[in-house]
Amino acid sequence: MTKKHIREQLALWTDTTKVVNVASVPQRSPFRYPGGKTWLIPRIRQWLVSIPKPKYFIEPFAGGAIVGLTVAFEKYAEHVILVERDEQVASVWRTIIDDKSGAEWLANQIVQFQLTSESAKEFLSKKTRSIRQKAFQTIVQNRISHGGILAPGAGVLKHGENGKGVLSRWYPETLKKRILNIASVKDQISFLQGDGIEIIHKHKNDINSVFFIDPPYTASTKKAGARLYKYHMLDHEKLFEEVSSVKGDFLMTYDDADEVRSLARNFRFETRTIAMNNTHHATMNELLIGRDLRWLGTER
Ligand SMILES: C[S@@+](CC[C@H](N)C(=O)[O-])C[C@H]1O[C@@H](n2cnc3c(N)ncnc32)[C@H](O)[C@@H]1O
Repeated sequence: MTKKHIREQLALWTDTTKVVNVASVPQRSPFRYPGGKTWLIPRIRQWLVSIPKPKYFIEPFAGGAIVGLTVAFEKYAEHVILVERDEQVASVWRTIIDDKSGAEWLANQIVQFQLTSESAKEFLSKKTRSIRQKAFQTIVQNRISHGGILAPGAGVLKHGENGKGVLSRWYPETLKKRILNIASVKDQISFLQGDGIEIIHKHKNDINSVFFIDPPYTASTKKAGARLYKYHMLDHEKLFEEVSSVKGDFLMTYDDADEVRSLARNFRFETRTIAMNNTHHATMNELLIGRDLRWLGTER
């Protein structure tokens, strides 16, 4: 971290109304992820320095996994476990983390690909036969779709930044670097394709497991545009119930909605709102939920 970044981190230490400058947080994920939590990273650091170093840092709804990756890179836990249900997202993590030379293969495919809207269309219509191929397709689709949305029905960038269309978010060399960097710490990361609630259940008696829980939730699920993920339905009551019995620490993050506040109240969890900028640069509040959020300071 540079001095400027340290100053920004310190300013955030107690002021939950201050919006994080995301440019100060290292981008480590190859995904552009809807609901991505890059802006929460300074709070995550603040949380993890307030507790003993955990053996396992578990991210049961990993998505682009910016939090788990940061924890692995910055060594806030001995080991990071990422869990994700979506087959496409999982194919990327499996290729980078579990496949011996998968990261190199994926990085090379990305830098060699001549992206145009036609080549992308043709490439994305191909049937994939291997996890590697699925991973490559997923990265292409993620980079050229509106808002990084992989769920069925998401449109492709027509104009994008400065009228650059599909090329607006295609930075092959940067993606290569990120993928190879993740591979360099892959011994510290395990990826599981499956159900986040099950992994919480499995580790709930382990005092050395800490959970960062960012489930799929949109307050206005009735709107068609709210379908950000293929797997967007979850039994939130069941999730809260499981979380209420974990022995280790946890942090949940949700849209600030009455339904969520009432679940938190029923399970006697603490809640705090945190300022963030949404994709349209409007300042909004996100709800953080935990057993004890004193580490956030007392100012509001
Ligand atoms: C809000 S996003 C997580 C974003 C992530 N924190 C980031 O910064 O990129 C929620 C994720 O949960 C995944 N998901 C949905 N249901 C799941 C389940 N039952 N188990 C595991 N993952 C699930 C979705 O596919 C989506 O990727």
